[in-house]
Amino acid sequence: MAAKGPLETIVKPLPGLTSWAGGKRNLARRLGDRIDADKHRVYVEPFAGAGHVFFARTRRRPVEIINDANGELVNVWRCWRRHPEELLKVILSVPFARQEFDRLMSIEPDQLTDLERAGRLLFLQRARFGGRLDNRCWSMGTTSRARTPERWRKRLGEAAERLASVVIENRDFAWVIQRFDTPETLFYLDPPYWGAEDAYGRGCFGPADFERLRAALGRLKGRFLMSLNDTPEVRSIFAAFRIETIETSWSSRKPGDQAVTELLISGVRT
Ligand SMILES: C[S@@+](CC[C@H](N)C(=O)[O-])C[C@H]1O[C@@H](n2cnc3c(N)ncnc32)[C@H](O)[C@@H]1O
Repeated sequence: MAAKGPLETIVKPLPGLTSWAGGKRNLARRLGDRIDADKHRVYVEPFAGAGHVFFARTRRRPVEIINDANGELVNVWRCWRRHPEELLKVILSVPFARQEFDRLMSIEPDQLTDLERAGRLLFLQRARFGGRLDNRCWSMGTTSRARTPERWRKRLGEAAERLASVVIENRDFAWVIQRFDTPETLFYLDPPYWGAEDAYGRGCFGPADFERLRAALGRLKGRFLMSLNDTPEVRSIFAAFRIETIETSWSSRKPGDQAVTELLISGVRT
């Protein structure tokens, strides 16, 4: 993999693409600072989700790869990068209404074009609580803010530019780790929380997947940083690595939510 040129280029931090279950909005700045401080040429997110951490960083690396197993989400990344103007038209054409929410919930995405699929997911994620894919309820209330065309245009343009040189994959994490591991790689991993693996579709990620993850991380030539919820099972499975705690809150939109401790696991063997 060619990784020439400066090690880093300073870029403006941006918000994630959309609300997403397990999205690290509240931790993004702190994780981004920590990742920025590491000297790596290749940056890889095998569980990129909506990219809250990816976009919070202020250093662009010569090679950057994002991946997620969710094909609908990866389609949003691709459309956002390649067709921001067209995506804006689709977004603005959808009336922000409960009836539209119900209509889009009932449509199979494979009946739509890629741009329509991307618009559908962005609309549904904005309107349902917590960004959970299994949440079928319209949750817009008096505290919800509609996004203006000007704000959408700015957001789409800035993120499309940031994504211009990024490789976007739609694979299982193990393939991505093996394919992009080099001594100059830093992986940031944000797998589904232990015990909440159904948030992305039934049976999407279970205990056997955490074992596969541990095995893949144990073979790395590069370094990694991983965030996970603080449970005895997680501490036990990843006991061979360095484990720190970090305070945060689980919140989708409102302040004053439940304070929790999460784990930051890194590739320095104890
Ligand atoms: C906790 S979320 C990531 C959130 C992201 N860091 C953010 O801030 O938006 C976990 C992600 O892992 C993805 N995922 C689940 N199983 C996967 C697998 N086997 N390989 C790759 N991605 C997977 C889910 O689709 C989900 O987007």
